[in-house]
Amino acid sequence: MKEKEIIELLNKMTLDEKIGQMVQIVGDIFLMDDINISTGPLKDLELPDEMLYNVGSILNVMGAQKVKKIQDKYLSKSRLKIPLLFMDDIINGYKIAFPIPIAQGCSWNVEVIKKIAEISAMESNISGANVNFSPMVDLSRDARWGRVMESIEGEDSYLGQVYAEAIVKAYQGKDVSKLGHLVSCVKHVAAYGAAEAGRDYNTVDMSEREFRQYYLPPYKAAIEAGAEMIMTSFNILNGIPATINKWLIDELLRKELNFKGVVISDYGAIEETIAHGASKDERQAALNAINAGVDIDMMSKVYANYLKELCQEDKEVENRVNKSVLRILKLKNKLGLFENPYGNTDEEKEKKYIMNKQNLKEAKKLTQETFVLLKNKNKILPLTKNSKIALIGPYADNNGITGSWSMFSDRTKNHTILDILKKRIDTKNLLYAKGTEILREKDINRILSAEGLPIINIEDEQEKEKYLLKEAIEIAKKSEIIVLAIGEHYKQSGEACSRSNISLPENQINLINELYKLNKPIVMILFNGRPLQLNNVEDKLDGILEVWFPGTTGAEAIIEVLFGDVNPSGKLTMSFPQNSGQCPIYYNHYNTGRPHVTDFRYVSRYQDIATESFYPFGYGLSYCNFKYKNLKLDKNKMKENDIIYVTVEVENQSDYEGYEVIQMYIQDLYGSVVRPVKELKGFKKEYFKPYETKKIEFKIDIEMLKFWNECLEYKAEEGEFKVYIGGNSVNTLEETFELY
Ligand code: GLC
Repeated sequence: MKEKEIIELLNKMTLDEKIGQMVQIVGDIFLMDDINISTGPLKDLELPDEMLYNVGSILNVMGAQKVKKIQDKYLSKSRLKIPLLFMDDIINGYKIAFPIPIAQGCSWNVEVIKKIAEISAMESNISGANVNFSPMVDLSRDARWGRVMESIEGEDSYLGQVYAEAIVKAYQGKDVSKLGHLVSCVKHVAAYGAAEAGRDYNTVDMSEREFRQYYLPPYKAAIEAGAEMIMTSFNILNGIPATINKWLIDELLRKELNFKGVVISDYGAIEETIAHGASKDERQAALNAINAGVDIDMMSKVYANYLKELCQEDKEVENRVNKSVLRILKLKNKLGLFENPYGNTDEEKEKKYIMNKQNLKEAKKLTQETFVLLKNKNKILPLTKNSKIALIGPYADNNGITGSWSMFSDRTKNHTILDILKKRIDTKNLLYAKGTEILREKDINRILSAEGLPIINIEDEQEKEKYLLKEAIEIAKKSEIIVLAIGEHYKQSGEACSRSNISLPENQINLINELYKLNKPIVMILFNGRPLQLNNVEDKLDGILEVWFPGTTGAEAIIEVLFGDVNPSGKLTMSFPQNSGQCPIYYNHYNTGRPHVTDFRYVSRYQDIATESFYPFGYGLSYCNFKYKNLKLDKNKMKENDIIYVTVEVENQSDYEGYEVIQMYIQDLYGSVVRPVKELKGFKKEYFKPYETKKIEFKIDIEMLKFWNECLEYKAEEGEFKVYIGGNSVNTLEETFELY
């Protein structure tokens, strides 16, 4: 439709119809034959009866047939035939579950992330999705927070900006109405990852400078990349819930960043402003949210029940409602829904495209770039083909290797490591034992009861645990190498999954300790949704391969890396803490006045653990051995319009071929506000043949040196800088330069 036709449509709408566009509910209500509003889920929502066929969008219904059925049913009752929007959480894939976002970020390969987004967008778009609640670009520095598993950038704002732009453009393309494209809803605005103590939904309080320097840039990059939608976060930001934070939404997003798209609240977040103590009641919650500029109320009831009277009392509120509805109608128009309410939903295409062989093959390759080799003592990896392997652990024969947001993917379609190993090696060289469960009864029941699921009762749990351990010991004794597949339960990370203790569970540690006594090499394959404490097991392991939750093709991907068909190349995007007590920890920290660089007692440190992280940001090994040398700057002084060209030679001193991620960090040695000890300012992922040396070049320009200064201006300051280049954030070559 043309713009003027949209305006004409808006003018035809009744107030109920306008407000309906600003309400989002779960969509399966429309699948019920006799939608009995007075008793069904809508009753819990307490929506007025006439609201059902006025709501503007629904969430988390997928499947071409279902979506078309709902759209037909809805339009048959819609007076003005304004199509429903279908919005979904395609966090890491639809039917093909890809690695969880934190894993994707560890690929340090924008092409990998784009390709995953493209396949996910196509699978979901032909299955009915118009909007994807992704990317989540909440900077995440605290491993206790369960949602670090969704953070594409981990602890680094620069990565967040690079990845946010790539994902938004991959989802939206040049025209969101085109096949395989959908609206990107960037979330959660803002600074949700800074929840105090890593406890989900908890308080966020920081200076505007900290917010602008670290947390805002990835959201800003998504907006600049054209994201058509933003989701507000559950947390307060400096005393005011983000969802009714007028400074955040109206001043910063709409005016300063010129965001013209739609703002949707997170699930029930508008109503939750009452619990926050920021709204007296539901009526005020609705008023606060509309005044802040929230266009859609996701699954609360306050817009549906109170906006009408608020409009009748105050013309200004009705003006805001009109602006919100116009933004929503424009978005539907951009998607082409007025011409074709089904969008690109297509059952035939679904049958051909979903989980096709080509994409599964591609998925395996993409997945392999997300693995991080954390340890490889005495080059225990890659495995040799004829070694006698004892495959042990609760993840050895387990298809639950997709993350907690992979709710549309069928786990029964995932192979297990055992399945794949059986096909790869002679069964006489393969021994298998579970060794232990992922969690003991008390821990798994904590998860189940939180989900309202029936708890389990493991008869004679201790006896069973002893038996599993004994079985594992027996097969391990007969083996030459132990491959241990262990880690977190997939429901231990994701929303509302904060943990105060990020260690492996006792039963798994016990298994490691007992296997260690056999004096056989142990390679651990780690499944997890967050950095874990490993300082209490690492010394007993010869190899550690971090695979996160690798998704549908995870098992195949893992085996090919273990045997060296593919060389691991991932690098950590989040520091691994020594233990929970060290959280939050991140590489780009400030120095303090008493850095722990000597044994002097009065320095910034803990008495009982090391000060540095256990594994640093940017860290990851390879089967290659990369040597960095000859770091050179073409000049050591620059004015603001100059560029410094940085070169470094990287040599692959091995007979393996593989990728290396060469990272460039910069440190501003002093400023009007303190500056971090280093910040990532560039990276290049390069492929090396055996014994190949490459000269890698970076540029340093004034933009890289700018920061939010004491007057909250974004400027660079003259003075001395250091540039660090290396394969992680710790082992680097360095040079100095001056801005004058
Ligand atoms: C959830 C999450 C958000 C998700 C939304 C819709 O509570 O916070 O990330 O997109 O609700 O499911």
